[in-house]
Amino acid sequence: MDKLALKQKYIEKAVKIFKGNTFEGYSKWKNTHYKFIAPASVEYTFQWLWDTSFHSIVLSNFDTNWAKEEILNHLKAQWEDGFVPHIIFWGGRYLDLPHWAFIESKFNARPRTSAITQPPVLALAVEEIFKKDGDKEFLKESLPKIAKFHRWLLENRDPDGDNLISIISPNESGMDELPVFQYALGYLKENPAILHYTHRKVDLLNQFYGFNSKKILDKDYFNVEELLFNCVFIEANRSLARLFSELGEEDEAKFFKDLASKYEDSLLEKCWDSEDKIFYSLYSKKDLKAKVKTIASLLPLFLDGLKDEKLEALVKHLVDPNEFWRPYPVPSVAADEPFYFPQDPPAYKVKLLWRGPTWINTNWFIVKGLRKHGYDNLADQIVEKMVEMIEERGFREYYNPETGEGYRRENFGWSTLILDLL
Ligand code: GLC
Repeated sequence: MDKLALKQKYIEKAVKIFKGNTFEGYSKWKNTHYKFIAPASVEYTFQWLWDTSFHSIVLSNFDTNWAKEEILNHLKAQWEDGFVPHIIFWGGRYLDLPHWAFIESKFNARPRTSAITQPPVLALAVEEIFKKDGDKEFLKESLPKIAKFHRWLLENRDPDGDNLISIISPNESGMDELPVFQYALGYLKENPAILHYTHRKVDLLNQFYGFNSKKILDKDYFNVEELLFNCVFIEANRSLARLFSELGEEDEAKFFKDLASKYEDSLLEKCWDSEDKIFYSLYSKKDLKAKVKTIASLLPLFLDGLKDEKLEALVKHLVDPNEFWRPYPVPSVAADEPFYFPQDPPAYKVKLLWRGPTWINTNWFIVKGLRKHGYDNLADQIVEKMVEMIEERGFREYYNPETGEGYRRENFGWSTLILDLL
């Protein structure tokens, strides 16, 4: 099947998946009608921030109006100060929320949104939509809100002023149990229950401190300058700059362009490890390196400014069969790391994510990045493998990098991102 026919087939499938995962109703607390695509039709029945952005990127390929609705629906729950929560609990009745809804939110018997955020993919999605239909009215409506969110991050999440954003909880990275956070939390063993507990303890402490970022980062019990979050922030600022320019708002455009450069310089310098020739996230006020090779270490491939020996080094890690070039790339943890776990172990009593499997959304950044830097051949190979997994196993939440087997939720929303890469 040629690529265009395949894309058409996946568009039809995406429409079915999105319709099947759509929730709609009237929200009394916001006094508004709501409608959104959830990540899946069971368990994940709320609106998530970066999932919504990915769904909109997919939709931009065939229904820009629907794509805009998704983004605007999420932005309805933006807080006064600019903060955008990672989950909005639109529907659901009193106390029917899962336990984590309560600990990732400000203390409340019936939380409406979480009090942590997620990688700021929003502006990237808005740019994808704008490229397709050139609708400036949508820019006028969405850009000021997204810009306000980016300014909130600047004001609240960079207390040391080193031009890197800190996250206050592992889940803010979108890669919940990525081994990086074990370094930050000082637990380097693998008992799943203890590991899970160390993460939940962060949520509870955050709740104790009222999710006040400055206080939390000052206490330093969890303070991670995380690579994926920062790479997305940098490129999202570039999207904002280009889009503000479309509106003729040159001051805003310049502000976000300069911001992107400053943050990029800082990341390329501070997170680079000249011995291992790879990037690591930093943790604590001391800026210690979390020396474990994960998908986040490769995310700087998505940066416009990655070049020369750093670019070549990252590509080398990517294509090394002992590290990331497994039969179904790109695993979330390098295969030569002790924490690498490609399966979805049934023995685990608690759900641990991002400890080896391949995810379609992080592959989207890697493929885009490879194409940006002229490695089309490698990008095509990854896409081919993704198609193979999807053809055989359907649109699953994540996949085994050794066998291509699919795991957990079926008809998972962002796995349709494949069609954006065809
Ligand atoms: C998992 C993922 C997170 C995602 C959420 C909803 O927690 O780790 O990135 O946003 O599920 O799909």
